[in-house]
Amino acid sequence: MVDQRENALQYAHTKKEDFLGTFKEILAIPSISTDKEHIPDIGRAAEWLAAQLRNLGMRKVQLYPTAKFPVVYGEWLEVPGAPTVLIYGHYDVQPVDPLDLWKTQPFDPTIIGEDIFARGASDMKGQAVVTLKAVESLIQTGGMPINIKWLFEGEEEVGSPNLEAFIASHTDLLACDFAVNPDSGMIGKEYPTITYGLRGLAYFELRVYGPEHDLHSGMYGGVVHNPANALAELIAGLHDAEGRVTLPGFYDSVRALNQEEREELARLPINESHFLEQTGVPVLYGEAGFTANERTGARPTLDVNGLLSGFTGEGSKTVIPAWAMAKISTRLVPDQDHKEVHQQLLRYLEKNAPDDIRWEVKTLAGNPASISDRNNLAVRAMARALETVWGKRPYFKREGGSIPVVGDMQRLLGIESVICGFGLPDDNVHAPNEKQNLPTWFRGIDAYIHFFLNLKP
Ligand code: BES
Ligand code: MN
Repeated sequence: MVDQRENALQYAHTKKEDFLGTFKEILAIPSISTDKEHIPDIGRAAEWLAAQLRNLGMRKVQLYPTAKFPVVYGEWLEVPGAPTVLIYGHYDVQPVDPLDLWKTQPFDPTIIGEDIFARGASDMKGQAVVTLKAVESLIQTGGMPINIKWLFEGEEEVGSPNLEAFIASHTDLLACDFAVNPDSGMIGKEYPTITYGLRGLAYFELRVYGPEHDLHSGMYGGVVHNPANALAELIAGLHDAEGRVTLPGFYDSVRALNQEEREELARLPINESHFLEQTGVPVLYGEAGFTANERTGARPTLDVNGLLSGFTGEGSKTVIPAWAMAKISTRLVPDQDHKEVHQQLLRYLEKNAPDDIRWEVKTLAGNPASISDRNNLAVRAMARALETVWGKRPYFKREGGSIPVVGDMQRLLGIESVICGFGLPDDNVHAPNEKQNLPTWFRGIDAYIHFFLNLKP
């Protein structure tokens, strides 16, 4: 009897150069979702994906417009009695600045050694192409063993503001047994990983206004409260000496870690030295009483993501700026509510902002955290697939980043996601010189081939 598994794997192995070519095509499209200038590129990326799905023979391939960027859909539902898996991906990427720190051009994908460098290589065009190529390998060697639907969005990197409404209004179209979400990574090259927790996000822009216009800092220094100073004072007050966030009520609805989960997180093959190595800081910082794995995966945090005020050009200009701005994000865990965190920030400012400045807060993004089931049919199929390829059982990790769709799908479709991708901790995601490790990427394609076959009834 012909074994599709062997044939599909062999197909994937002989097509490596081809697969890389496809990967480079999508990497060359600068689909940055935060930047209005790139709206045409967002459209090109969506069209490119639709063309890929059509080439695979998918049915009902279509771009669905949303209030912002289109959703790409396609399906193959020709295997009666087999489960239906919804494959998620996002085709947008983060901005590339600071551009001068890139060693190659961010949208000119370049292979150096084992890695391919480009914005989106790891997060997550690489992971999306893994699923496309695993499906191609199966279709070319006998056909899909199960039913699939695809859902690609173009707004993940800006918090998926329109995806929830899209899912809510297309529950029949998207109906399935479960989702796979490859928008994630591994804790190390030799450590296959399934992510079962994601943090939520509440992201704000805080603006502080002082004098009507910039002032000579000699003539007026001493009589006005500098808004940049005031902003810095407010930011400084957001953490206490124990590294805890001081927003009133911030920890009230945080679900506590039980002993079993703490022990499990402690068994992960990454510890404090991993974080020291990856970040290059001399010593770690964070909430007292919790390990580094706990602090990134299971505890909420608050960070300034950007600051702007006054004169920031070369040299000096003696000025008291008229305003100052900070982008401030909080990462949330179950059962915190991003709308409540907004209220907490307002209460903090009402209480602590001085009378001599004016402030305003704009919300930039908000989504809840999620925890996924670790022991359903799909998770077990993925765990076996990873074990087959890597020769060891996967680690289960709670991730500090956010993928809003996972919670949306739980709430609106009643389905769980298996979160499994092939990024690595040193991939420089959201930073200059983003890369994807290619041997790991090819192993990822093998793993998804096994995963789909493991689900065959
Ligand atoms: N792929 C990431 C999330 C992620 C990061 C998973 C690290 C696993 C490891 C995702 O694309 C992302 O970066 N999301 C944003 C979402 C936000 C804008 C709502 C994030 O976490 O900052
Ligand atoms: Mn991503």
